Amino acid sequence: MNRIAEEIGIELPWFQAGMAGGVTTVELVTSVSEAGGLGQLGAGYMNVESLREAIDAIKKQTSKPFGVNLFVPEACSWKKEEETKASLALQPARLALGLEAEEGIHVTDAYDELLAVVLEKKVPVVSFTFGKPSADTVEVLQENGSYVIGTATTVEEAILNEAVNVDAVVAQGSEAGGHRGTFASDFQQALIGTMSLVPQVVDAVRVPVIAAGGIMDGRAIVAAEALGAEGVQLGTQFLMCKESGANLLHKLAISQAPETATVLTAKFSGKPARGLANRFTEEFQEVPTLPYPAQNELTKPIRAQAAKQQDASYMSLWAGQSPRLAKEQSVTQLMSALKSESLAGKQRLVID
Ligand SMILES: Cc1cc2nc3c(=O)[nH]c(=O)nc-3n(C[C@H](O)[C@H](O)[C@H](O)COP(=O)(O)O)c2cc1C
Repeated sequence: MNRIAEEIGIELPWFQAGMAGGVTTVELVTSVSEAGGLGQLGAGYMNVESLREAIDAIKKQTSKPFGVNLFVPEACSWKKEEETKASLALQPARLALGLEAEEGIHVTDAYDELLAVVLEKKVPVVSFTFGKPSADTVEVLQENGSYVIGTATTVEEAILNEAVNVDAVVAQGSEAGGHRGTFASDFQQALIGTMSLVPQVVDAVRVPVIAAGGIMDGRAIVAAEALGAEGVQLGTQFLMCKESGANLLHKLAISQAPETATVLTAKFSGKPARGLANRFTEEFQEVPTLPYPAQNELTKPIRAQAAKQQDASYMSLWAGQSPRLAKEQSVTQLMSALKSESLAGKQRLVID
């Protein structure tokens, strides 16, 4: 039996990425866990109350294991004049959306409080990105019964995660949709494709490796397993599911996009992330930007207003590099397709 599946107590080591920002509804998380995989709540932007509520709702709907994903905080400072410049640069977007000028941004960090909720609620799986959790945090979580997962975009980051005793590590290839988890390397140098990253991480660490980035169907699961991954994590494909909370325009844009449609941009949040190119990514490519998460706060009203007006040109349309393989379907349909496709893929290899 698979190490990860056995230790967490799930049927299939297939993870639905914890996607912060409203994609991972209670319905999405519970449907994935009920179907035998691991549903995860993207809690990076949540507050204590909403996290507590969501965990309680998940527990009411399933007795199966589930996960919560958190952002490891990082130091962020900026000067008032930098904020003025970055804010001014975004004025055309505010004008286009009929928004007032920005009145100053406030960055709050709820990491410690969110961790306390995860401990209080004894969440079965806790995963981290944007940094490695401290060894103390990992120990406290494990003693409390949680399985702990880190995220790496390079071999060095995987080793750093192993050094704090995580139970497994996600190897996030450069194809991946959403934010880069990079925390110990230069972002540009850490753009390693899944095919290259996974076997190099597998060779460097003893903990199980979960492959992420561009995995959309059973063929890719077989490929990831062949590279030595013991689990897979899918983001974009779960975002497309009926149960996800992604904006319908976001799903529509992915369903119509070719493989060349994504760009890496730090203009939405201050941290590089992969999403579909749109007016925002094109118009603000060269503008001064605040560090993460200050830039995220600066663009928040713009993204919210764009969503309200159903204007995809100023929304962040996170997506990986395989949009042609994206399908609008239910979680049950996706999970059963993954099962039959991966089985067929393995049989094809044996027969050939
Ligand atoms: C909309 C979206 C939001 C994401 N948010 C998070 C997050 O909050 N935490 C995290 O660890 N990864 C996040 N990711 C990245 C995923 O964990 C994963 O690396 C990625 O989706 C894999 O590539 P794929 O989209 O091609 O499947 C996000 C991805 C997407 C598409």
